[in-house]
Amino acid sequence: MESSKSIPTSLLLLLAIIFSINYSACLADPDPLHDFCVANLDSTKITVNGFPCKPASAVVSDDFFFSGLATGGDTSGMFGSNITQASVASFPGLNTLGLSMNRADFAPGGVNPLHSHPRATELVFVLEGELLVGFVSTANVFYSKVVKAGENFVIPRGLVHFQYNAGKVNARAMTVFNSQLPGVVLAPLGLFGSKPAIPDEVLAKTFQVDNNVIDLLKSKFGN
Ligand SMILES: *[C@@H]1O[C@H](CO)[C@@H](O)[C@H](O)[C@H]1NC(C)=O
Repeated sequence: MESSKSIPTSLLLLLAIIFSINYSACLADPDPLHDFCVANLDSTKITVNGFPCKPASAVVSDDFFFSGLATGGDTSGMFGSNITQASVASFPGLNTLGLSMNRADFAPGGVNPLHSHPRATELVFVLEGELLVGFVSTANVFYSKVVKAGENFVIPRGLVHFQYNAGKVNARAMTVFNSQLPGVVLAPLGLFGSKPAIPDEVLAKTFQVDNNVIDLLKSKFGN
């Protein structure tokens, strides 16, 4: 009562609006409504924002355990990198908890190609070797840094970014996301490998090149 007399209502309202704007801007996935909601990934009858919960009586300790990041994937593919994911899709215990993690392995010269995560900010922690990590802001400013073992770099939600192993030895990083399923839009595949393909005319005009350049790029990504 005291405070509502001394602070004008309009100021309180303004503060409430400022607080709610800032608050919602740093949220990713919605808050859970239960202690846990281990995903039933096989549910076809019910679709919700996320996955329906397995009955609590059927939940076991192993639902909260995942060993899939203990080993890295094969880095001999075209990009010289391999991303192993611990998202809700492979680790159902993460459902509704608002976070997930990837392991990224890189051969020398390997790249996790330009991509973005529509639903999450990404915190990159380098465990081994060193990576050039960079993102581009909506103002087209390129921010980047060589990140060494034990160091972090953060990539704001939704922005296009990459990690590149410019070193002479293998590199390894863990990446943490504030979403159970951050989603990934991989620029080369999205632009040149989509099914069905984006028309050549659109890509040629977009990149200001001839159709044969577009056809060459499409041929690299299965189109
Ligand atoms: C990543 O590694 C796994 C396991 O070694 C392999 O099956 C998969 O094809 C690799 N992915 C890429 C993109 O090279």
